[in-house]
Amino acid sequence: MTAALPAPTAAAAAPSRWWRDAVIYQVYVRSFADSDGDGVGDLPGITARLPHLAALGVDAVWLTPFYASPQADGGYDVADYREVDPLFGTLADADRLIATAHEHGLRVIVDVVPNHTSDRHAWFRGALAGGPERDLYHFRPGKGTDGQLPPNDWESVFGGPAWTRTTDPDGTPGDWYLHLFAPQQPDLNWENPAVHAEFDSILRFWLERGVDGFRVDVAHGMVKAPGMPDIGAREQAKMIGSQVLPFFDQDGVHAVHRNWRRLLESYGGERIGVAEAWAPSPERLALYVRPDELHQAFNFQFLGCPWDAEAMRAVVDASLAAAGSVGAPTTWVLSNHDVVRHLSRYGAGDDALGLRRARAAALLMLALPGSAYLYQGEELGLPEVTDLPDEVRQDPSFFRTDGQDGLRDGCRVPIPWEGEEAPYGFGTAAGWLPQPASWRSLSVAAQTGDADSTLELYRRALRLRKELDGLGDGGMRWQQSPPGLLDLVRPGFRCTLNTGPLPVQLPRPGSLLLSSAHLAADGETITLPADSCAWWAI
Ligand code: NOJ
Repeated sequence: MTAALPAPTAAAAAPSRWWRDAVIYQVYVRSFADSDGDGVGDLPGITARLPHLAALGVDAVWLTPFYASPQADGGYDVADYREVDPLFGTLADADRLIATAHEHGLRVIVDVVPNHTSDRHAWFRGALAGGPERDLYHFRPGKGTDGQLPPNDWESVFGGPAWTRTTDPDGTPGDWYLHLFAPQQPDLNWENPAVHAEFDSILRFWLERGVDGFRVDVAHGMVKAPGMPDIGAREQAKMIGSQVLPFFDQDGVHAVHRNWRRLLESYGGERIGVAEAWAPSPERLALYVRPDELHQAFNFQFLGCPWDAEAMRAVVDASLAAAGSVGAPTTWVLSNHDVVRHLSRYGAGDDALGLRRARAAALLMLALPGSAYLYQGEELGLPEVTDLPDEVRQDPSFFRTDGQDGLRDGCRVPIPWEGEEAPYGFGTAAGWLPQPASWRSLSVAAQTGDADSTLELYRRALRLRKELDGLGDGGMRWQQSPPGLLDLVRPGFRCTLNTGPLPVQLPRPGSLLLSSAHLAADGETITLPADSCAWWAI
């Protein structure tokens, strides 16, 4: 077992700035491990499986929302931020999970969802009943002769208008309310100081229970442009991440993050905030991680980068330059619960090709300076599940776009732990989404001890990353390399990546530490196979 963490409130030692090179493992709570046989993952299930994460060698765990919620959007619709949903356990289970993780030397990051609540939250129910809570949300009269048209042209990220009309207590059509996501997720009005006060209090509630930080959902969304102007264009979801919109990446959000940084620092133990922010450029993303704002932001440019050495080099350089300009660490992420798993993105229909690339990409990511996020199951080489029947799907955007979009269930299938038959140790009953039969050979037990398995590749990479001086936070440079290749040099270390379709011969770069595929050597010449990556000691 790894050394237990010091109690977060212990007298301040010299800061470790642990987050600057931490490897953080995302647990999608409903799909990790089910302890009570209802087919849905839960907190006690995670606690029981923490030894897997300690043995894997990650530094921290990020848990997706497990709060009281009607589950209209996988728990990102919170009805009570201080309660655990009975589906996932109890507050005592959360306390046990946090304490056990700390005993294993793992920090715990939880999600906070400040852009919107559930429509079942007491505030929104009060608002619908005409109470003073109305000003905690965005209610507006509609346009048109009878107010029958939405107040502006904003579209929901999940498809359709971002406004839903309410019915007044007397049964007549009333005002509209804003929801940038599903109608069950009304947006909060961050112009109202009561919203700020409530979220300060929620953060304190979880900090006092011992969490080490927060992943801030839609950290770019809380503040809307004054007057909520029309955008004048359709398909606005496609504009997210490429331009500032009147509802996303408004400068006003930074005041909220500055306040939270002060709050986090008022607690001992180096608690952190991580922005889930979709910003149009690395430079605008860097604004979220200025020294007085959040500690990290997800680097979605890296996630979105095609399998191409030149493109990857450009993203790495731009990311390092932007984060470095404000003194923040860069983060790297390849998959999460909202996107097609990277194995399947890289494979484009060919899972064997995708796996080779995914293994190579993991070694590149873990060789880069900064902090890396792993999404549960990527250490097993899980592909996206593309043939889920419509009747088992739960992603709200699937239903709001007639199945055109919102295929996020395929990356959320419960992960396989052991055994010959589904649910492969996930629990005792069938999981909430069916697992493919091919996952029998991908379980943790099936891969453990197999030196060629993806799980053992991740374990060795994470161990080496800790052992090698100079990996993690720190500098890097590129060595000149032929097209299709990346050759990254760090103190005592070199990483060579071949994204091309053909093997490439190279003078031996150093002594081999680890590779994603078998390398052939002939004297001082080595052959780096297509779609492979190798680590070298130099
Ligand atoms: C981002 C979360 O990752 C996603 O799952 C969720 O649907 C939206 N934010 C809305 O909360």
